[in-house]
Amino acid sequence: MKLFRRKHAADLQAEAKDDTRLKRALGPVNLTALGIGAIIGAGIFVLTGQAAAQYAGPAIVISFVLAGLACAFAGLCYAEFAAMIPMSGSAYTYAYATLGEFVAWIIGWDLILEYLFAASTVAVGWSGYVVSLLYDLHIHIPPEWSAAYGTHLIEMPASLAAAIKMKTGWAAINPELLKQIQAVGTDPSTLGHATAVFNLPAALIIVAMTALLVVGIKESATFNNVIVAVKLLVIFAFIGIGIAYLHPANWHPFVPASTGGGHFGWTGVLRAAGVIFFAYIGFDSVSTAAQEAKNPGRDMPIGILVSLAVCTVIYIVVALVLTGLVSYTQLNVPAPIAVAVDSLGPQISSWMGPVIKIGAIAGLSSVILVMMLGQPRIFYSMSRDGLLPKIFSSVHPKFRTPWVAQILTGIIAMIFAGLCPIGLLGELVSIGTLLAFAIVCAGVLALRKLHPELHRPFRTPLVWLVAPLGILFCVGLMVFLPLDTWLRLIVWMVIGLVIYFTYGHRHSKLHHGLTGKSGGEAAKDH
Ligand code: ALA
Repeated sequence: MKLFRRKHAADLQAEAKDDTRLKRALGPVNLTALGIGAIIGAGIFVLTGQAAAQYAGPAIVISFVLAGLACAFAGLCYAEFAAMIPMSGSAYTYAYATLGEFVAWIIGWDLILEYLFAASTVAVGWSGYVVSLLYDLHIHIPPEWSAAYGTHLIEMPASLAAAIKMKTGWAAINPELLKQIQAVGTDPSTLGHATAVFNLPAALIIVAMTALLVVGIKESATFNNVIVAVKLLVIFAFIGIGIAYLHPANWHPFVPASTGGGHFGWTGVLRAAGVIFFAYIGFDSVSTAAQEAKNPGRDMPIGILVSLAVCTVIYIVVALVLTGLVSYTQLNVPAPIAVAVDSLGPQISSWMGPVIKIGAIAGLSSVILVMMLGQPRIFYSMSRDGLLPKIFSSVHPKFRTPWVAQILTGIIAMIFAGLCPIGLLGELVSIGTLLAFAIVCAGVLALRKLHPELHRPFRTPLVWLVAPLGILFCVGLMVFLPLDTWLRLIVWMVIGLVIYFTYGHRHSKLHHGLTGKSGGEAAKDH
């Protein structure tokens, strides 16, 4: 079957060595910082509080452990592949070597959901924080230009925002918000109203990151190192100060009794794990920089696993501090860490409030940067294989970056970020990523069987246990996502299949015998 023809893993290894067009500039520190850059973002700064308040209570800590385990299993499998086949196509290339071209295309198409849509989603969150910080500084961005097209907005002056634990500035109107405003004695009709046209700050951050990524991998990595340092400092400050003010009573009951419908109890803990899984997304993007790593065999596993381990520990401690400072019932807000900081009293919160906002902005910036770094590199590999037009693998002669794919990615991400509301995209990102993780875990097992002889600089420990558990955890988390998200995933995949059969399948270099010495291998041969 042509659809299931594989690229020979040995050919891929040779290709990784021979393709020197991208610049090998990254060492273990840069790669780990890229991982941390992609991981810590909207998940911890926004979703943690909401998931604790709605689903898990203080047991959100357990949800973080569970989602962290799913990622650890997937991370170990990614590490084996990334060290062994250090290609910028990441999971797409691994699938090409193990499960065949058709599955590879599906994964490549699916990864757009992860990288491109995550960049857009997080850019919308970034815009929210920046517009609010500017509002605090009396710089008012016109509301028409600060949210997705058609969003109805209401103005939140500082006193009202503080009373209902919202960010200052303009917020999207929803029935719940109107109720909260009325509950504190304010008539919503007395506040400013506006309808948005385009989220300009979200679009502009995408443009800025695209420009940086076009100019160079080294420059991008250095900038990432700086913003990662800022966000880590802010998080450590929150943990360091918060620990002194904990009220252990807030941790009781640790697992609140179920109230039905997936709220609280152990089902709530599982549901919350599905929600905060988003917070872990990104460690895999390290693998898309494999062709720019100086020593991928050693440094890919370091970048992937160290960044994941560091972030897991940080998340668990932040979740403990957050739910120990204030009751989880107060955390269903867009800026839960700010609520916890407020509980420390005006002396601390007056300076720490803005510091947290700066940390969040730095955090979200690095996520956008690294996600935007990952996407064009997947396109690059798909184009090298003939599944996408040649233009996607054009490398800038001076900057040595995949600049055309980078700019195209930027344009699409910019349009989504400017026009789409955040909720619509977020869950699609999670389901797309979980699917990719499950396939990578399956791929590691397949390649151990198909080519046990290949040199593996890093071997997944206990692979026959770790990889199946990775599949089980990822599929388990997918099951807990809403039906709507599944339907959107299916529609997305159908669009992908149409493109594959009208373009990719016909232009595939493997089908034309243009790739590698062996010209690929037929899956049925094995
Ligand atoms: N893990 C990234 C975030 O939480 C996507 O923003």
